[in-house]
Amino acid sequence: MDIQSLSKKSKAILSQSDNLDSLEEAQRSLLGKSGEITSKLKELGSLPPEERKSAGKELNILKNSLQEIYQARKLELRRIEADKKLQEDSIDVSLPGRQRKKGSIHPVTQTIAEISSFFTSKGFSVASGPEAESDYYNFEALNIPADHPAKDMHDTFYLDNGDLLRTHTSPVQVRVMEENEPPLRIICPGRVYRKDSDLTHTPMFHQIEGLLIEEDASFSQLKGLLEDFISDFFGSDTDIRFRPSYFPFTEPSAEVDIKWKKGWLEILGCGMVHPNVLEMAGIDSKKFTGFAFGLGPERIAMLKHDIPDLRAFFENDIRFIKQF
Ligand code: PHE
Repeated sequence: MDIQSLSKKSKAILSQSDNLDSLEEAQRSLLGKSGEITSKLKELGSLPPEERKSAGKELNILKNSLQEIYQARKLELRRIEADKKLQEDSIDVSLPGRQRKKGSIHPVTQTIAEISSFFTSKGFSVASGPEAESDYYNFEALNIPADHPAKDMHDTFYLDNGDLLRTHTSPVQVRVMEENEPPLRIICPGRVYRKDSDLTHTPMFHQIEGLLIEEDASFSQLKGLLEDFISDFFGSDTDIRFRPSYFPFTEPSAEVDIKWKKGWLEILGCGMVHPNVLEMAGIDSKKFTGFAFGLGPERIAMLKHDIPDLRAFFENDIRFIKQF
């Protein structure tokens, strides 16, 4: 048997295969069950012993090197085929791109930002407080004791631990007064919660609290500030009215309505901070007076954009939100 020429021939077959199919075919024809090398190995037994040893050694060396050539060629052919595929499937840069949907700022967020920027331009800074609040901050410290009828009007969501979801942003007034020395000018935009749902009420809505404490804050200063705000925001020809009202934490108190369609829509409550509230928060009510207000940004956005149903703000229908 001429192993020399068998080696030459079989190495050529493997390294000349020009695709994976023919390489597999060549490998089978040499090293498969009835391949040429395999059968030669089987024939070794019939050789005379002195030839058997050297032929066996040479055949095994050949078998191993064929296996190496086969593996190397396989990797090479795979790479070539992958390259070819990449070239064929290359990206068509002239195809139009996939449209990306653009988000927009929610109308309530926009309104809060606009309102905040008016008040920050008047020297108010922005404060915040927790939405899960204690009874003390939401009621008691605001001069609403446990048996006060105003407490029932709040339709409060209570939590298992006795705390509650704040029904207004006024508790932030108390937290700010406890932690800071007057003079103070803050606003606090945030979420508030009440068990209420109809055309003009949703169980979660926003308020922007305002608080000013100075040595001689007055109701006329409060009225002037709110009138300025409304004419800045809605235009100077807007019809508004101040209506006397009642809040346990302000005295005197008022509500402000804006003319809307055929009637009036309430957009805020306000008043002079009650001396009890100042004292409970550690502020000397003989030295300082203050006023507070609570604005409803959803109501304000409804008026500004002529939206008939408050609930539209929270359904997150993209066709609604996209209009702003
Ligand atoms: N907290 C009141 C409410 O939710 C609004 C308000 C705030 C009134 C500040 C007076 C002063 O109705």
